[in-house]
Amino acid sequence: MRTIAHLNDNWRYAPDFKEEYLSSAFDDAAFESVRLPHANVELAYNNFDERAFQFTCCYRRELFVAGEARGQRMFLHFEGAMACAKVYINGELSAEHLGGYTPFTVELTGRVHYGEKNLVAVELDAAERPDVPPFGGVIDYLTYGGLYREVWLEQTGPAFISDLYARPTRERDGWRLEVAGMIDNAAKKIGACAVQLTLGGREGTVLSRDMPLALSGKAQQGFSFALDVGKIDVWDVDDPALYALTLRLVENGEALDETSRRIGFRTARFEADGFRLNDRKLKLRGLNRHQSYPYVGYAMPKSAQYRDAEILKYELGVNIVRTSHYPQSKHFLERCDELGLLVFEEIPGWQHIGGTTWKKVALNNVEEMIVRDRNHPSIVLWGVRINESQDDDDFYKETNARAHSLDPTRQTGGVRNFEFSHLFEDVYTYNDFLHQGNNAALSRPEKVTKTGAPYLVTEHNGHMFPTKKFDCEEKRVEHALRHLRVLNAAYGSERISGAIGWCMADYNTHKDFGNGDLVCYHGVLDMFRLPKEAAAAYASQGDGRVVMEVASGMNRGERDASRLERLYVFTNCDCVKMYRNDEFIGVYYPDCKGFPHLPHPPVVISDFVGGLLERNEGMSHSDAERVKRVFAAVVKYGDKSLPLRYQLEMGIAMLKRRMSYKDAVDLFFRYVADWGCESVTYAFEGYKDGHLVASCRKGPAPSCALEALPDRTELREEETYDVCRVALRHIDALGNPMTYSCETVAIDVSGAGERIGPRTVTLAGGSTAFWVKTKGKGSISVKVTSERFGEQTLTLASV
Ligand code: GAL
Repeated sequence: MRTIAHLNDNWRYAPDFKEEYLSSAFDDAAFESVRLPHANVELAYNNFDERAFQFTCCYRRELFVAGEARGQRMFLHFEGAMACAKVYINGELSAEHLGGYTPFTVELTGRVHYGEKNLVAVELDAAERPDVPPFGGVIDYLTYGGLYREVWLEQTGPAFISDLYARPTRERDGWRLEVAGMIDNAAKKIGACAVQLTLGGREGTVLSRDMPLALSGKAQQGFSFALDVGKIDVWDVDDPALYALTLRLVENGEALDETSRRIGFRTARFEADGFRLNDRKLKLRGLNRHQSYPYVGYAMPKSAQYRDAEILKYELGVNIVRTSHYPQSKHFLERCDELGLLVFEEIPGWQHIGGTTWKKVALNNVEEMIVRDRNHPSIVLWGVRINESQDDDDFYKETNARAHSLDPTRQTGGVRNFEFSHLFEDVYTYNDFLHQGNNAALSRPEKVTKTGAPYLVTEHNGHMFPTKKFDCEEKRVEHALRHLRVLNAAYGSERISGAIGWCMADYNTHKDFGNGDLVCYHGVLDMFRLPKEAAAAYASQGDGRVVMEVASGMNRGERDASRLERLYVFTNCDCVKMYRNDEFIGVYYPDCKGFPHLPHPPVVISDFVGGLLERNEGMSHSDAERVKRVFAAVVKYGDKSLPLRYQLEMGIAMLKRRMSYKDAVDLFFRYVADWGCESVTYAFEGYKDGHLVASCRKGPAPSCALEALPDRTELREEETYDVCRVALRHIDALGNPMTYSCETVAIDVSGAGERIGPRTVTLAGGSTAFWVKTKGKGSISVKVTSERFGEQTLTLASV
């Protein structure tokens, strides 16, 4: 029967490669001891040399193979090695793999010494080789280097199930499951046998069947059968029901092998009038994700991959993610299955199409991606075009044909950034960067493609409006609004299946892009996955949790000419009440005129005086409205440039109220300008169905604390080390982030853990984060020290 062993520990690493490293006689005691996932070099947060990771390195590991393994089949699986790997077993080149985003397997059977130690050595080239995608041109991201995903060892019996692909299809009155697989019969040559299938769900076994098979003696023998499953819980975004499909290979009553896949029953179709999941129309609202992190690039284990999926689903409220621009970790996809987060997965590449070898690797990538991932219910579209490349009809006919033959159930897309491109895919997937703040938010599909094919926007915003978490408030709010305008346009068009924004989080990139510091500040989160205002704009479109983000610190001086004309509240509440120093000002509603199609338009507040003039100054409603109009105009134009009609309006108000000019100025300062008065605090309350569901207070407030918030306190050493992010936030006395704080913080980790990244960090945009990594089991002590706040210690457990 099959056994699996994780091989992520006890690797030895050298940042160079020499022939002698391939010999088992070579003493690697001077090499660094590392665990996988591993980055070939740790980088600075920004401003490093973009070639720093582009070198050839070596990983070595002993592998003891027991005598009992003789006669069994043995495989070494690499989930991802960036970028080109040669694997040597006992000094002999046993496999070569080009490309760092897809898995590969090395068969060890017959290559290892039984009852002895063997040597696995990997020569790993992280250079941007022009014959391998995505390389050959410039690319707007870094690919890093290293054995950055897990490695595992699999031992099977002589005959085993080498592939399993389940295709649920919906019939008129229930579901049908087509199961296709492959039996590797090369070593044993079994004949009559049976495949026993079980399907297990939340409530136990749903189905079990015995299928007799007669094998012909071919080394690789395919099999397929179809079963009526009847009624079953469907996989959906709100309730992602999963089933375990297990196949057992049996000969004469003896089980030779067993393997399982997790599957889901659902239908997913892009059509000319939008996307349907289980026949229900669903507007897709998504973000693109790069799989990179500060310092360690791509090398992050399961929990960090899980966490990104959770952030997308729960913190950002999106229903789809595009794995731009390559297949991502299996852990990320597994979590998407569990959470009900849809995925558009695509092959590696960026604008450039290379030569013959390059294209061959790209076609392999199509196959490796689909064979690895076609059982994931979350995946609803394959991207089989190099992101934003030019048309290449022969090449793209082939990528599409290959995708369709490997997976007839899913549609293909291929991301382009120009109009009227030749379409061999099922869905016209288009990067639409039309919006510049003051024009239409999206192109009309009929202006982009004449085909009438299903249509999906796969990128928007991004480089059109790079925004840092520490940019001024106006910019951060405009960033959020631009994303909302595009979403509003997508919601408003039947033709558009949805819009996937650029992008989830900031990322390191090449010098040709970004801000000159090797960072692309295009995320709605920063590189540490901490939110900018746009994050709340996305979150507010969901209904899963209450969101009410007042997108301002309510500090007038922050704005040009102290002009806070309009305040945006990104919320899914029905209305928001505002108070000024505990005095009720008004109740405000979502801006359904400005954003008519959004599930939850933002609440826009432009009246900061409300009923105060009537209540406190005894003004009639019409007088109060007149004075408020004038005050709003003073904020907008300044008192020196006040248009004549407002001067006249003020004159009328002054005459009617017998106010002097000084009285009018006092009034303005009392209700609008806030200067010199004792502190002004605004309070906001969010209501849903008449109930108070959210509240916050905003305004100038003194520094209060440095929060250190770990994502979890219990970490797990399982297949390998675990990580946990600790967010650091400087908050004021009202509990709001101090956006411009740049405190310096020292981080010391001791016990069963270590810090990823530098010891000293500074807050940017009022916050930052770091990751702690386990090194064995036990207690981990995390000490966070700053001059202003002293020392605080968190205790985490590694179990
Ligand atoms: C697109 C590209 C993305 C990213 C984005 C920035 O053209 O596909 O990878 O570079 O621009 O807005």
